[in-house]
Amino acid sequence: MKILVLNGPNLNMLGTREPDKYGNDTLESIENFIKEEAKKHNAEVDFYQSNIEGEIVTKIQQAKGVYDGIVINPAAYTHTSVAIRDALLAVELPAVEIHLSNIHKREEFRHTSLTAPACIGQITGFGKNSYKLGLIALVDYLNKP
Ligand code: DQA
Repeated sequence: MKILVLNGPNLNMLGTREPDKYGNDTLESIENFIKEEAKKHNAEVDFYQSNIEGEIVTKIQQAKGVYDGIVINPAAYTHTSVAIRDALLAVELPAVEIHLSNIHKREEFRHTSLTAPACIGQITGFGKNSYKLGLIALVDYLNKP
């Protein structure tokens, strides 16, 4: 089972970026945490982060036929990106949307996700555990006959 973990804009700054909201872990340490969890489920994970919407769209397109599913934190693009939503719909791969913070508890503009309707589900508000829970949910979904 091959899973692509995608991260959107500003998540490369985790560790120093608004730690009260996003915690103190760097993206690299979160990726290692996901890798450890993936091992337990015999899943292979690859990671990609970009600050550029079109690059994320291209990566999703390229995932078709290579990956079995996607865990995605679209970050700010969650709330704005028709293009990422359309890419997820186009490739027809199961995807789980995750957020470190609880987007529903924050500013009103964060309450809407344009990308979640293109996913099998959304996990939001559990810090780095959101990635772990998202991975487990995706693996479970893919293992169902
Ligand atoms: C985020 C929430 C988004 O609203 C924000 O723009 C981010 C991070 C999260 O993981 O909590 O960059 O996706």
